[in-house]
Amino acid sequence: MCGIFAYTGSKKASPILLEGLSMLEYRGYDSAGIYMPGFDVVKTPGAVAELTKRMTKDYSATSGIAHLRWATHGAPNEVNAHPHGDCDGDVFVIHNGIIENFRELKEELLAGGHTFKSETDTEVIAHLIEGALKDKLNFEDAVIDTLKKLRGTYGLLISYAKDPDTIITARMGSPVVVGLGDGENFIASDATPILKHTKQMMFLSDGDVAIITPTTHRVRTLLETEVDRPSETITWDVGEASRGGYPHFMLKEMMESPEVIENALRGRLIMEEGKAKLGGLEAVEKELQNIDRLIIVGCGTAYYAGLIGEYLIESLAGVPVEVELASEFRYRKPVIRPNTAVLAISQSGETLDTLEAIREAKRHGALTLGIVNTVGSTIARETDAGVYNHAGPEIGVASTKALVSQVVILSLVALFLGRTRSLSKDDGVALANALKSLPELAKKVLEQSEEIRKVANVYKDSRDFLFIGRKFSYPAALEGALKLKEVSYVHAEGYGAGEMKHGPLAMIDEKFPTVAIVPQDSVYEKTVSNMIEIRTRKGSVIAIATAGDEKIKEVSDHVIYIPKASEELSVVLSIIALQLFAYHFAADKGLNVDRPRNLAKSVTVE
Ligand code: F6R
Repeated sequence: MCGIFAYTGSKKASPILLEGLSMLEYRGYDSAGIYMPGFDVVKTPGAVAELTKRMTKDYSATSGIAHLRWATHGAPNEVNAHPHGDCDGDVFVIHNGIIENFRELKEELLAGGHTFKSETDTEVIAHLIEGALKDKLNFEDAVIDTLKKLRGTYGLLISYAKDPDTIITARMGSPVVVGLGDGENFIASDATPILKHTKQMMFLSDGDVAIITPTTHRVRTLLETEVDRPSETITWDVGEASRGGYPHFMLKEMMESPEVIENALRGRLIMEEGKAKLGGLEAVEKELQNIDRLIIVGCGTAYYAGLIGEYLIESLAGVPVEVELASEFRYRKPVIRPNTAVLAISQSGETLDTLEAIREAKRHGALTLGIVNTVGSTIARETDAGVYNHAGPEIGVASTKALVSQVVILSLVALFLGRTRSLSKDDGVALANALKSLPELAKKVLEQSEEIRKVANVYKDSRDFLFIGRKFSYPAALEGALKLKEVSYVHAEGYGAGEMKHGPLAMIDEKFPTVAIVPQDSVYEKTVSNMIEIRTRKGSVIAIATAGDEKIKEVSDHVIYIPKASEELSVVLSIIALQLFAYHFAADKGLNVDRPRNLAKSVTVE
């Protein structure tokens, strides 16, 4: 998820572009760059403040394209910052998304004599356009010709020095909004930076290519027919616009779950062989084949992701796994033998305890791995190898989409390790297929947001909650409780359902509701028994159950249904339902769910 912004009109472009970019900083802040025809590209690691410092000329240009990067392919440094140009420095491209076939395209272009400056997937686009222009196509047709060769996702801005007033933009999977002004037009990844200038917006659809000048706008599709995309008058304020129209980032980020799952899986499944292709682990593939123990470290939600990872990796790959709170691991004397690998899970890649746990593991000579969302973060840099989430920045303090992504990546790691061990091809193919269908299932859970809200409202006065589950649903229960307490400040505890008689059952009375995560899996009957025990003690039960399970209503006060999924992946759907429950419970009390009291997004101190 990057921020893109463009202007074409009659005013000086540079201040408009810089201001627009600064309003998109929540979308990415690894590096920034700008191109205005007639001037050299300016790029820098960091965000808009750094870019502004480097813009030392008096720029007279009246059009330009600008970018804030959330790194995916290539380190977050100056060379990889956008815009990227062709060999002649005439065509410049800004890109939000991932080009999956860029390696093949790059090889062909290199063989054809093109020289590349960066490691990015984006740069191939500029060189392909250059090639098409040399084949005598005009700017517009050269772009269309190029887009037909790309596989992947993009929100693109393209500027051509020889046609300085025109900016071409295209959308495939990544959002593009065109703001229609009076003698000036704007393009951005969302409405936020445009609203100040015009409220008249045109939202592009996948496959659209728009040709924008100061006074005209036309939309074509890749099939070359012109299409009519009516504009709308937007009434959002700037805050709402940056949240995509949602009242909170937390809700927006949960709603991104299907896309986040797709991004985590993109290019990483070999369907017919039932294998996972994890480029970030290839360098240590041999060592990974020899490991006889994996220790997962993380904090908070990332630690719970680790617990799910333990179940996944042990059952699918047969590798013994231990999960530890990073804050404990670093202060005790862990036994780390030569074939132990230590895997850190961290959204920010900067959590101090997790980082120190990795450093401790290194001191013991362990192979260190990371599942990290923030490219170039300290944990990503200090681990020997790893897998990026590509989930985009998470702004809400409570981790939501990052956890969904972490569990999906852990399934891929289990598949990766499993297929070099005892996991059969058939089982691998079944898991790959289940992963492929996960985004659609996640969408179905999200569609029930209002239903979940109604259930949460029934319990609005409760001050204590218990969350229970078994097997994969046990870490989900821990996470459900954490999410609820951190955003709503009520007391919530997560327990393994089998533990009820060992203590927690004593707390149950009519004022103490329980959320039971009870999908139809191999431990279904066991959890149902625990629910009956709770109801016998007058406790209310909210079940998270599999769609079509009518019987569960007999032992529950309320049921939230999730679609049927494989035992391993159903947990992702339960987690999304639990996140929605916590969100609505707190948001309807008017609490600031994006910034819960006493908490920070990234815990870089002990
Ligand atoms: C809970 C939450 C935290 C983080 C934890 C680790 O919603 O967000 O528990 O999961 O602070 O953070 P990262 O993943 O950045 O290491």
